[in-house]
Amino acid sequence: SRPIICDCDPGHDDAISLILAFSTKALDVLAVTTSAGNQTPDKTLNNALRILTLLEQYDVPVAGGALKPLARELIIADNVHGESGLDGPKLPDPGFAPVELNAVELMAQKIRASEVPVILNPTGPLTNIALLLASHPELHAKIDSIVLMGGAAAAGNWTPAAEFNIFVDPESADMVFKSGIPIVMCGLDVTHQAYIVQQDIERIRAIDNPVAQCVAGLLDFFMIYHQDPKWGLKGAPLHDPCTIAWLLKPELFTAQDAWVGIETKGEYTQGMTVVDRYQLSGNKPNAKVLFDVDRDGFVDLIVDCLQAYNK
Ligand code: BDR
Ligand code: CA
Repeated sequence: SRPIICDCDPGHDDAISLILAFSTKALDVLAVTTSAGNQTPDKTLNNALRILTLLEQYDVPVAGGALKPLARELIIADNVHGESGLDGPKLPDPGFAPVELNAVELMAQKIRASEVPVILNPTGPLTNIALLLASHPELHAKIDSIVLMGGAAAAGNWTPAAEFNIFVDPESADMVFKSGIPIVMCGLDVTHQAYIVQQDIERIRAIDNPVAQCVAGLLDFFMIYHQDPKWGLKGAPLHDPCTIAWLLKPELFTAQDAWVGIETKGEYTQGMTVVDRYQLSGNKPNAKVLFDVDRDGFVDLIVDCLQAYNK
């Protein structure tokens, strides 16, 4: 079982990503920390507690992180995720409290105590991860890899050039991509192929357990925003769950090692992930960038993970 810390901003797809991570013995979730992003930090923290309550994971420590990006004001995605950040299904109230540490302290404690290097799994803006790396250089060697959702080699989804997670806190993303720690980047190139259609939602709804029912409800809501023909999508893209799917079944994906630079200053390109696909920069690759996914295999994996919650 590989130790992992999920740093997320739930968020519909973050919630599903957590649900996948907890469904399997292949991963050992040491902690869940929350970032400000899809909603304000109080709401993303509350949402993480609600999801773990649904999963009856009361013993996993949860901690809230930075209240806003390193150098900018917070931008939220309530247009995508609604007023609560997890609009749609009925969720339980939190059945337990966060620990009395902040996200960075909790991550540091868990990494220090782990016998084997830990996977960091950020699926929101990278503020907490950047703060961890900056404040604990002695722990870098104990981080196995950073498997993140963010960025795009092609077009953005928040601005023409930038994906939301990187756009919100480009300074943090820049620190993370320069850290030298192995990075797996699940960007929009791959996540827009990891879409789910109505038929898949019905397949999930037919799984008779409360977790699968909740996922179906999350997807019903998540579908609405992505139905706009401007996206050219066939369904709702499950961005964040691609990270867990990669960890569980890398054979579903294609990837390329490449140098990725983060644009922090551009007039039109703030938060762009500049992916050097043709090795033009002379910079050594700092990330494994995912490009394609076997969509049917991805959906089957999600169904398998949700069936694991049958009692
Ligand atoms: C990313 O932004 C958020 O809205 C999603 O949760 C995902 O992490 C996609 O751009
Ligand atoms: Ca997210």
